[in-house]
Amino acid sequence: RTVGVILAGGVGTRLGLKVPKQMVKIAGKTILEHTVTALNDSPVVDEVIVMITPGWSEHVATLLGSKFDKLTRILEGGSTRNETTRRVLDALPDDECKVILHDAVRPLLDERIIEECVHALDGFGAVDVVIPSADTIVEVNSDEIITSIPDRALLRRGQTPQAFKLSVLRDAYAKAVEDPYFAATDDCGVVLKYLPDVPIKTVSGSEHNLKVTHPVDLFIADKLFQLASQGPHHLDASKRAELLRDKVVVVLGGS
Ligand code: CTP
Repeated sequence: RTVGVILAGGVGTRLGLKVPKQMVKIAGKTILEHTVTALNDSPVVDEVIVMITPGWSEHVATLLGSKFDKLTRILEGGSTRNETTRRVLDALPDDECKVILHDAVRPLLDERIIEECVHALDGFGAVDVVIPSADTIVEVNSDEIITSIPDRALLRRGQTPQAFKLSVLRDAYAKAVEDPYFAATDDCGVVLKYLPDVPIKTVSGSEHNLKVTHPVDLFIADKLFQLASQGPHHLDASKRAELLRDKVVVVLGGS
C-alpha cells in the first residue's frame, strides 16, 4: 500500500503574495490542484493526504471537493516543513506501508518519477529524487567566503518526491524529536542524520519538476504547462524536452 502526501503547509514568503503560493493559479488551476492530480492519478498510489497551511483547511476542502477519489484527508501542517511531516506521521496507522512525500509547489511532477520512487522502495528504505547541477556549487562560510568547491560530477540537486518505508521515516523522526539541535530542510536529511546506516537510493528527477519559489518560477511553470497543453501528466519528460527544443528553434528562426 502506498500513501501519497502533499506537503502544502508553507506560506511562500519568498514569493511574497497574500496567499500561500500553492493557492496561485497556473494554467487554469491552483498549483495545489495540479500536484494533487499527479498523485491521485498515479496507478501506484492508493491514498492521498494533503497537509495544508494552518487556517486554510476549509477553503482547501471546498476547492478540492470530491474531485479526487483517493484523497482521504486534509490536515493542517506545522510551523516548519519537518513539523508538517511529523504531523503526517501522527495521522498514519502503525502498519508498514510506503509513503511518498511531495512538495505541493512542484506541480509538473511526472508519472515516471512517482513510479520509480515507489518501485525503488522494494529494495531500499528511503528514496530521493535528484538531478545533476548545471551550475558549480560552492560552499561558503557565514562571511560569504568560499570554503570549498566540491566536484560537480558528484553533486546533485534534491527535488521531491521523497519516498520511505513508513517504519524508516517513523524511526528517523522519533530520534529527531529527541535532539534539541534538530534542523533539516527535507525528510531524506532526517533519515541521513538519524539513521546513517539506511542507504538512501536516488532516482533521476527532471528539470521540469521545478519548485515554485520565486516570481520567475510562476512564469516558467506557466510556459511549461502551455507546452504540455494536454496537462503535464500526459507527456513524459523527454517528449516535453523535445517540444521545448522545437519551440526554441521556431523563436530563434533556426532549423
Ligand atoms: N511546507 C510545509 N510546511 C511548512 C513549510 C513548508 O508543508 N511549514 C511545504 C511547502 O508548502 C512547499 C514545500 O514544503 O510545498 C517546500 O517548501 P518551500 O518552497 O520552502 O515553501 P514555503 O515554506 O511556503 O516557502 P518560503 O520558504 O518562501 O516561505
